[in-house]
Amino acid sequence: MSSTILALKNVSKSYGRGAAAVQVLNDIDLKIEGGTSLAIVGPSGSGKTTLLGLCAGLDQSTGGEITLNGVLLNGLNEDQLAAVRNEHVGFVFQNFQLLPTLTALENVMVPLELRGMKNRKANALNLLDKVGLADRATHYPSQLSGGEQQRVSLARAFANNPKILFADEPTGNLDAETGALVESLLFDLNRSSGTTLVLVTHDLDLAAKTDRIVPIKGGRIG
Ligand SMILES: Nc1ncnc2c1ncn2[C@@H]1O[C@H](COP(=O)(O)OP(=O)(O)O)[C@@H](O)[C@H]1O
Ligand SMILES: [Mg+2]
Repeated sequence: MSSTILALKNVSKSYGRGAAAVQVLNDIDLKIEGGTSLAIVGPSGSGKTTLLGLCAGLDQSTGGEITLNGVLLNGLNEDQLAAVRNEHVGFVFQNFQLLPTLTALENVMVPLELRGMKNRKANALNLLDKVGLADRATHYPSQLSGGEQQRVSLARAFANNPKILFADEPTGNLDAETGALVESLLFDLNRSSGTTLVLVTHDLDLAAKTDRIVPIKGGRIG
């Protein structure tokens, strides 16, 4: 039986205040069933990254309600949001966002450390192996190619067994061939772990591989 893992009700977001306020998202209603995959597609500046950040608890909406895995995100403080992210959410960014002073292995271990998990090193190595990078465990991000860094960030994103994974243009900074590898790893890991996948892209071929496509334009879904 499927159930809703993410629900947005009349969500809006503006940046700044008063005369300088910019309305970026308007009247967003969206329900996502657990275990499905969904692509949010739209042109640059349409609000995709902003929307994903709200859904993942990286930022707060200015109106409406967002419920993630039964938890109402509105009104939570920073610590509470961080706890929700750590428990339920994985995130893959366009520009990888690995910690430069940590090795590949240590980057993958971060979510496991935050959760105080046992067998952290073995689990992280296992994940690096799944993305084909077990032999690069002691290398730093600066020693890895973009595609390799994104594979490390995939391993990190799945480390805390997230219920839902958000990926913002995960192949946007990669060449076609490397992007295709990252893409297939993303879908493979997602399928084998039963994670809900929400990705943002302007790549219609990538979007077509998900269960459902949601177009966004000028901060509105439609
Ligand atoms: N921190 C911010 N402050 C002010 N405006 C922002 C901020 N972040 C994004 N915006 C604006 O919000 C709009 C949507 O941005 P974004 O969500 O990054 O779009 P997309 O990911 O679809 O390219 C853009 O007009 C952008 O300039
Ligand atoms: Mg964006």
